[in-house]
Amino acid sequence: MRHHFPSKDTNLNTEPALLEVNNLRAGYGPIEVLKGISLEVRAGEIVTIIGANGAGKTSTLMSISGCLKATGGTVRFAGKEIQRLPAHEIVKCGICQSPEGRKIFPRLTVHENLEMGAFTRSDTAGIKHDLEKAFHLFPILKERRRQLGGTLSGGEQQMLAVARALLGRPQLLLLDEPSLGLAPLIILKIFDAIRELNKEGMSILLVEQNARLALKLAHRGYVMETGAITMHDEASRLLNDQRIRDAYLGE
Ligand SMILES: Nc1ncnc2c1ncn2[C@@H]1O[C@H](COP(=O)(O)OP(=O)(O)O)[C@@H](O)[C@H]1O
Ligand SMILES: [Mg+2]
Repeated sequence: MRHHFPSKDTNLNTEPALLEVNNLRAGYGPIEVLKGISLEVRAGEIVTIIGANGAGKTSTLMSISGCLKATGGTVRFAGKEIQRLPAHEIVKCGICQSPEGRKIFPRLTVHENLEMGAFTRSDTAGIKHDLEKAFHLFPILKERRRQLGGTLSGGEQQMLAVARALLGRPQLLLLDEPSLGLAPLIILKIFDAIRELNKEGMSILLVEQNARLALKLAHRGYVMETGAITMHDEASRLLNDQRIRDAYLGE
């Protein structure tokens, strides 16, 4: 499947997107896995990247967040080129990531894990405010705040990974597979939280193997196959596209 949809977007807003990824290339050693990715996230949007295992979704997020160096192309955030900045500078620009596999610190408490999310900040009052907001979003984390991260359930660890990213006070939140391995009820809780964050104005780039769930939540979606974007459209259109249904929705 390698059809390219022209954007059917009738939005005449000419303001530049919050995130503009243009012809991004990256890889591991001699192996290039991102073969010229272009996508954008406008302010206030939830955008999802769906695709099979190994398509390059994680690598895309990693290279936006500066954890994987781009070998070509540009990443612009709020109009500024960031693809050469180190990861901690990108956090300061307002992009925070909840990584695949959660990557919480198992020997730190919940509270300490959250403090790590604020490592680039020194605004004590602001950090305290964001901590309370995170606890409001995920009350179980407040109950467990003195518990070691490694003793949390999978769902609680996922909530902690999202909350830790929020402690960086992102304008753009990168979420990598937040539903992976979790029970349906927990997934709903996490997706509700994502929706709530977006309602408050946060822009979100969501990577998911669970395409149905992701497309139901997102405004727009990109389909990724072997390191390239093959389709993009309004999420509702992708949900109803027979090729997407055959390939990703099992219908
Ligand atoms: N650290 C790594 N070293 C070498 N190859 C990697 C590494 N991480 C991912 N890859 C390869 O890059 C490709 C894209 O992987 P990834 O970005 O993790 O895809 P996805 O998140 O869509 O499953 C795969 O072929 C994968 O094997
Ligand atoms: Mg991945």
